Amino acid sequence: MARERVGAVKGLFVAFEGVDRSGKTTQLQLLAQRLSEKHEVLLTREPGGTPVAEAIRVLLLADDVQMSARCEALLFAAARADHVERTIRPALERGAVVISDRFVDSSLAYQGVARGLGVDDVERINHWATDALEPDLTIMLDLPIGTSSQRDGEVDRMENEGELFQARVRRGLLDLAGRAAHRYAVIDASPSVDEVADLVWAAVPEPWR
Ligand code: TYD
Repeated sequence: MARERVGAVKGLFVAFEGVDRSGKTTQLQLLAQRLSEKHEVLLTREPGGTPVAEAIRVLLLADDVQMSARCEALLFAAARADHVERTIRPALERGAVVISDRFVDSSLAYQGVARGLGVDDVERINHWATDALEPDLTIMLDLPIGTSSQRDGEVDRMENEGELFQARVRRGLLDLAGRAAHRYAVIDASPSVDEVADLVWAAVPEPWR
């Protein structure tokens, strides 16, 4: 969908995407550290990033909660609407770099593709929820399913879905990257942490490095 930003937005909006356990969190923290030498950096996440969105997150990820797929998609979009209006846009307007752990493309891949709701419908509700905000750069950390690093601890409701579901998510993200190549960097997440961090850095637009 075409980008229709209203008013001057001075900052840089970077989103990270990837299947569960792709090493996203480590990489976005390293990028934030590097960019913060020159810029104000706001590190945030989805679902989350405001008190209301964090409360919705608890509901969305609890492994003992059951909900319909449409309810799930609307709750992700509702959390995102608050996140955009109250956290992301104000930071961009004051010229900050905003780095978000996931954004709309997660909904398109998880709810639109993997849950089968359809990318077009999920895109429509998110276009409204975000008032058409799109990242300037989306970094997808890509790993074949089954090779992603094992993380200790609890498995949330989405991670419980299994490998077939994760494979659909990955395919969905790769398709989106192909359709929005102007703002996507797909990065192989299998080399060492430092090598991946350098590839991520190289994807940042020149004036911001
Ligand atoms: P999180 O613990 O943040 O996982 P990760 O470290 O993999 O990002 O949990 C977020 C989960 O919610 C993750 O499985 C992806 C899923 N998700 C959606 O299904 N739709 C969305 O719109 C978003 C933002 C996340």
